[in-house]
Amino acid sequence: MHTLSPDRLRKSEHAINTLRKLFARFGSLTLGEYCSQQEHARQCATLAQLQGSERSLICAAFLHDIGHLQALDANIPGTGAEGHPDHDRIGAQLLRELGFSAAVYQPVAKHVEAKRYLAGAEAEYQDKLSRTSENSLNIQGGAMCAVARGEFLQSPYAREAIQLRRWDEGGKQQKLEIPGMEYWLSLCQEEL
Ligand SMILES: [Fe+2]
Repeated sequence: MHTLSPDRLRKSEHAINTLRKLFARFGSLTLGEYCSQQEHARQCATLAQLQGSERSLICAAFLHDIGHLQALDANIPGTGAEGHPDHDRIGAQLLRELGFSAAVYQPVAKHVEAKRYLAGAEAEYQDKLSRTSENSLNIQGGAMCAVARGEFLQSPYAREAIQLRRWDEGGKQQKLEIPGMEYWLSLCQEEL
């Protein structure tokens, strides 16, 4: 446990309260998936933790779809029954504004690109996508060609985003006994 200055503590508490409210208001929605958004967040974070990931990447896994909830809360045009197609960018911007480091918000910013990367790189990957993820793939630009994949891999946090994406596909189960919201929110606060 680190000691924060009063200003930093106030900012981190504001950040965690913002996230807590978003999950409280919209976390029970499924947005077309097999489980609720808060279950999905907790499942992805659990998968990241089980692999012994850095805390920053566990937080990124927990928060990667927060852009859907932010889009609903802020009434951002384009939000539909399956969330917002730009939720990667919206979520990353929110996390940056709340004070998270690039190691958290960059994998979030790139998790849709990572889906496009994997769809191009691995023939069997598209079979693992949920119907909602498969539907959005084309809207998001479809599978990346080899040149685009090479460029993506060279970009910062691309490998973390690809790893996050694999947990994203794995973290959509209907019932799983895993730590609750407050456990993961505390972990996020330690990252601030
Ligand atoms: Fe997701």
